[in-house]
Amino acid sequence: MTTTVTAKAHTNIALVKYWGKKDAQLMLPQNGSISLTLDKFYTQTSVIFDNQLEQDQITFNGQTLTASKAQRISRFLDLVRQRSGQSAAAKVVTENHVPTSAGLASSASGFAALAAAASRAADMQLDNTALSRLARRGSGSATRSIFGGFVEWHAGHDDASSYAECLQDPVDWDVQMIAVVLKKTQKPISSTAGMARVVATSPYYPAWVQTANQDLVAMRRAIQARDLTTLGEIAETNAMRMHALNLSAKPAFNYFTAETLTAIQAVNDLRANGITCYYTLDAGPNVKIICAGHDTAMITRELSRYFDSEQLIVAKPGPGITISEND
Ligand code: DP6
Repeated sequence: MTTTVTAKAHTNIALVKYWGKKDAQLMLPQNGSISLTLDKFYTQTSVIFDNQLEQDQITFNGQTLTASKAQRISRFLDLVRQRSGQSAAAKVVTENHVPTSAGLASSASGFAALAAAASRAADMQLDNTALSRLARRGSGSATRSIFGGFVEWHAGHDDASSYAECLQDPVDWDVQMIAVVLKKTQKPISSTAGMARVVATSPYYPAWVQTANQDLVAMRRAIQARDLTTLGEIAETNAMRMHALNLSAKPAFNYFTAETLTAIQAVNDLRANGITCYYTLDAGPNVKIICAGHDTAMITRELSRYFDSEQLIVAKPGPGITISEND
């Protein structure tokens, strides 16, 4: 028996998106990305390696995962075992903390927490850069969830050079996000498969890489200047270009629902009325609104014409990973 290690990682929302791999085995992205870690949504995961276990035993929100669902996690644990020399199977207990059954639970906070808890439980002492590289092997977006505040994932060209670093934490100016949680629908395609199809078939992909690289430079500058308008404009345009890739893939796909378009229109209307707010969207129907904290009450009031108050979750910049050992 070793010690149980618990890690807590918050989810992050990309402002300049990762949408395509250059190396699926090493999980190297086609372009760098920049995100904001949020305080409201996090994953807490405990790991212990135990010689008594015959196979990994994984519990997610109180339920034992089926073998097929657990496969991705076990494969990740294999990587930790291979690097650490720990050979025992692991007991993994994961709790996802999202205010509602929001569908906001993402692989980002999940694999960041797992990387931190599993590596420490296997007696590896990794700094945050090494943890970020390890989390990357579980899910690309997890690379960034090791850090709090604004974070950049450097695309890199090999395992050693592809990691995230903090751009700004704590975030000392007024920027928040409102998550508009929409009705869950059957996802048309996973993010992993969606981005692979886009890289393989969208004729616009080279333009995406080129503009994303320009967005990175401008986004870094906007964060540094604490310029919400420029940050929001870049994020919104970048998100729509990512979704345009999906519409231009063969076969085409998209993650929008009618409610997604309602939320986008509501943001456009608010902006036409002088409110500084912008939207971003990931591989699902939910819309995240980027705005200042002092406008969140007014924006949620406007949005409550279309959505219930439980569907509107205001989040602030959140912290990086925390790890604790409890024998
Ligand atoms: C749209 O990290 O879920 O949220 O690396 O295949 O696990 P895998 O994909 P994942 O993709 C996230 C895509 C995104 C944009 C982003 O977070 O940068």
